Amino acid sequence: MKRISALSLCLGLTALSPVLAHAADADPAVSREKVSMCIGCHGIPGYKTAFPYTYNVPKLGGQHAAYIVKALQAYKNGDRKHPSMRAIAAGLSEQDMADVAAYYAAPAARAASK
Ligand code: HEC
Repeated sequence: MKRISALSLCLGLTALSPVLAHAADADPAVSREKVSMCIGCHGIPGYKTAFPYTYNVPKLGGQHAAYIVKALQAYKNGDRKHPSMRAIAAGLSEQDMADVAAYYAAPAARAASK
């Protein structure tokens, strides 16, 4: 099982390279605006909010951008089933995903997040 998901992740990353290349150009100010809707659940640097269930919301700060984009796409297309995240991902464009992923993957998010 593990082997299969690692393989599909690799294939997914290859398919994503154009998106990732674009993510490198993501504007931090724009990205900060876009993650404002994530902070209620995924507490991020500068925000102490941990509503509603901190313990089962995965940490995003410091996560690889490619992983975040892939996870969001999986929520959007139904491969991942969590209802809240599916609703959120449904409203994100490819550019939105690249921007929020770049934000969370940035060194500042990595250093400050717990
Ligand atoms: C209503 C609360 C809530 C909000 C708002 C929210 N998330 Fe989530 N998010 C969750 C929960 C709960 C999970 C774990 C779901 C699961 O088990 O699949 C999750 C999972 C994720 C994951 C997968 C993490 C992993 O380690 O696999 C990503 C990426 C993610 N969220 C990104 C975002 C982004 C980006 C936003 C804002 C655009 C956002 N989330 C807003 C609750 C939320």
